[in-house]
Amino acid sequence: MNSEALIQLEDQYGAHNYHPLPVVLSKGEGVYVWDVEGKKYYDFLSAYSAVNQGHCHPKIVNALTEQAQTLTLTSRAFYNDCLGHYEKFVTSYFDFDKVLPMNTGAEAVETALKLCRKWGYEKKGIAENQGIIIVCDGNFHGRTTTIISFSNDPDAYKNYGPFTPGFISIPYDNISALEKVLENPNVIGFLVEPIQGEAGVYVPQEGFLSKAAALCKAKNVLFMADEVQTGIARTGKLLAVQHENVQPDILILGKALSGGVYPVSAVLANNDIMLVIKPGQHGSTFGGNPIAAKVAIAALEVVQEEKLAENAQKLGELFRKEMNRIIASTPLINSVRGKGLLNAILINDAPDSSTAWDFCVRLKDNGLLAKPTHGNIIRFAPPLVMNEEQLMECVAIIEKTVKEFTEK
Ligand SMILES: Cc1ncc(COP(=O)(O)O)c(C=O)c1O
Repeated sequence: MNSEALIQLEDQYGAHNYHPLPVVLSKGEGVYVWDVEGKKYYDFLSAYSAVNQGHCHPKIVNALTEQAQTLTLTSRAFYNDCLGHYEKFVTSYFDFDKVLPMNTGAEAVETALKLCRKWGYEKKGIAENQGIIIVCDGNFHGRTTTIISFSNDPDAYKNYGPFTPGFISIPYDNISALEKVLENPNVIGFLVEPIQGEAGVYVPQEGFLSKAAALCKAKNVLFMADEVQTGIARTGKLLAVQHENVQPDILILGKALSGGVYPVSAVLANNDIMLVIKPGQHGSTFGGNPIAAKVAIAALEVVQEEKLAENAQKLGELFRKEMNRIIASTPLINSVRGKGLLNAILINDAPDSSTAWDFCVRLKDNGLLAKPTHGNIIRFAPPLVMNEEQLMECVAIIEKTVKEFTEK
């Protein structure tokens, strides 16, 4: 079947909850993907930063296929011979006492929220059902009913009510707003993305995360970092909070924790927090399954072995420098922002215009896949296994597309 027929098939039989770029992929390797007609592209989205280690990384795929032929799922009704090794590995990798394994990012966020609430009632002594968690305007933490209850994006929440109470939203990157809400004695946690990815790659001012963490500590409030998108070397450090030497009370990981090979997410915390959840009080049939355990170890080893954080840091600087050079020569792009290889360009048009979408379609025609995130913002997040030569080829594609687009 060709692309057109496959798009038609999805359109007819699948729910219409996504609006994909019109390209149908059938193969991936490293920084490249191929469509069903055999055309090769640079992947400049990496499945929303899940494929940091590159498509079909052989070490990760091997871990998957080997374990898949041995033991796939036991549920947590029984022990398996992989989970403990993974738990030891991942907790020492991120320097926490304990991990609670889940599958998707949203599940890990839900887990963190439940953990925070339970800690608030059982350790901090907040009156039952009175606990408040602070979140930020523009947040994106997933799609469950509770998570969208504190979204301020109408697409995410409209007509999905009634909503879960207990959240207060403050402006992102605003320390004084945080300070003020922290005066409320019922506050138990602050949930934050170290860089707001979905909202459009908003990088907070330097010092925001470390000040926020310090304020939370002073008030005995849990600082929860959602690093589902920013984590696993994407921003030039293993975790984005490490740019400010912050160790969160609760760390939320997903996506690239498996190199995009398998749904693996995790919540990490120390014993004083994690042990408030007792047997039977939270769980997941698939969470911590043997395949996930093996895949995640391999994916994290690749990050270290191939120095992906260092590469993201170096190539990110080069990319923004090159984008700024292009921006100086065109009215089409207003600015570039980001950290490491999590970047975005701002198209010079109204957020509700189709310019960013049309530009991405032209980028696709020229062999590079990216997608607008909100309105006129285009996120650029290639796999971190990219080399400098490949990055410069991508820059050339972007430059060529800008020229074609302005000339049309
Ligand atoms: C910061 C953040 N948290 C959570 C999620 C949800 O992850 P998932 O789609 O795996 O549920 C995402 C997904 O984009 C995200 O960017």
